[in-house]
Amino acid sequence: MDLLKTPVSKRIAVLAGDGIGPEVCGEAVRVLEAVAERFGHHFAFDHRLMGACAIDATGVPLPDATLDACHRADAVLLGAIGDPKYDHDPGAPVRPEQGLLALRKSLGLYANIRPVTAYEQLLEFSPLRADRISGTDLLIFRELTGGVYFGEKGRRPDGTAFDNCTYHRDEIARIAHRAFRAAQGRRRKLTLVDKANVLETSRLWREVVRELATEYPDVAVDYLFVDNAAMQLILNPRQFDVVLTENMFGDILSDEASVIAGSLGLLPSASIGDGAALFEPVHGSYPQAKGKGIANPLAAILSAAMLLDHFGLAEEARAVRAAVENALNEQVLTPELNNTAAYTTEQVGSFVAYGVLDLADCHLHHGNIADGKSTII
Ligand code: IPM
Ligand code: MG
Repeated sequence: MDLLKTPVSKRIAVLAGDGIGPEVCGEAVRVLEAVAERFGHHFAFDHRLMGACAIDATGVPLPDATLDACHRADAVLLGAIGDPKYDHDPGAPVRPEQGLLALRKSLGLYANIRPVTAYEQLLEFSPLRADRISGTDLLIFRELTGGVYFGEKGRRPDGTAFDNCTYHRDEIARIAHRAFRAAQGRRRKLTLVDKANVLETSRLWREVVRELATEYPDVAVDYLFVDNAAMQLILNPRQFDVVLTENMFGDILSDEASVIAGSLGLLPSASIGDGAALFEPVHGSYPQAKGKGIANPLAAILSAAMLLDHFGLAEEARAVRAAVENALNEQVLTPELNNTAAYTTEQVGSFVAYGVLDLADCHLHHGNIADGKSTII
């Protein structure tokens, strides 16, 4: 135990969710427990239902007990939600996604932060050319509680449907301030992505960001239309530092950017508001992989590292990231990133947890899932 640290005590609501959610979330919790042990902290995990599993058990995707637990917690750790049985009918009266949207809104999680890193060890796994993506390190700031996702929507008797896109300047300013501050701590470049040649809301985004830019003279601001941004992101991703954008554009661009990392299984995210905060991998519930031990837990583990940063535990977060880096170097990776000796979800999680504990006697025995021989002791 590191006795120089002041121990903290935190309550973490865990919404493991559906599909591979419980498996990857379990490994993130294992790693957080290792952090608690090494640094003398106390984390109380409060496991709750959300998503399809909650619909099955209670009839609703976000039961009140879950929402209350999230409001009481210091942070929320989420696995993934969604189940194919709800996908065939997108208009079904209850869907797992409604739970996630309601949770974001209720906790006021207006800023969704999605870092995208091209790990040198994994460049070959991206379908994009290694020389194009090498060195990419960008941060997407996606607005999460406004825009077309939450605007008035409906049907009219004349056969039309509508989803209104609305933004108030205060909704833009609060996330823009966060994005500017993040840029100040990085390479001091901010790119606003919008469609200001067509949309009035986008023109408001530009106006507000232009005004705020005067408060951050050390940050260079760039403006890109979303169609061009989608192209630039894969043509020359190194040009980006912090990307700021509205809800829908951020949803689309962050999936696109995940291709740079080589696997969706590596991308963490943080959703923050003025009080609450939620951490989740960017990937979905991947139902086909459920229970097979092949899901990559690193996105969930890196989300836990972002949670530690949020608690002000920077050294602890660094220890987790260093252990993940070690897993990449040693190729202790799940099958999508390891063609020769793949490891299981649990083995990757254990390896990272041991790394956090700094166990000098952590030995690695290469093998693979198929022969059941890879062990980490
Ligand atoms: C995401 C997801 C969600 C979104 C869905 C599941 C509602 O795609 O977090 O990016 O669109 O925000
Ligand atoms: Mg999405």
